[in-house]
Amino acid sequence: MTERTLVLVKPDGVQRQLTGRILARFEERGLKIVGLKLVKVDRDLAERHYAVHKGKPFFEGLVAFITSSPLVAIALEGPSAIGMVRTMVGATKPTEAAPGTIRGDLAVEMGQNLIHASDGAETAVAELALWFRADELVDYEREIDRWVIGPKG
Ligand code: RTP
Ligand code: MG
Repeated sequence: MTERTLVLVKPDGVQRQLTGRILARFEERGLKIVGLKLVKVDRDLAERHYAVHKGKPFFEGLVAFITSSPLVAIALEGPSAIGMVRTMVGATKPTEAAPGTIRGDLAVEMGQNLIHASDGAETAVAELALWFRADELVDYEREIDRWVIGPKG
């Protein structure tokens, strides 16, 4: 089933100049970019994005980190995109992330784990609505999908 999911290249990824390489992994895999922007996150947006973690000991640090420098928000579309992107991102703790995953190849610290990805169908819908206005998510055809997805039925 075709799904859409939200990815954030967090401030450490932008500062480490890894945005292009991270984006390239998803493009090369065959996922379609349907939204893309650089965002300077304010406290309100940070709190809403991490609402599920409110009250946890690491919450304040998380909000401080995500508001410290711009991030890149990406909306991706593809077959089973939500789970596929989570698998490509790797374990939350980079020391436990498998080689070949983004965190397993490029990160070492939980607080600086480079990337966020929606963790399920409901969170994907909610997070895409939080980060993108409806008119910032773009519907378009890709010629290459004949070769990536297959011929139209
Ligand atoms: P994300 O939301 O960023 O995609 O990461 P995730 O699903 O793999 O991890 P999640 O449990 O949602 O946690 C969100 C972010 O909070 C930081 N964290 N720190 N110190 C801690 O115990 C702790 N736990 C989580 C991580 O930066 C994680 O990405
Ligand atoms: Mg999460």
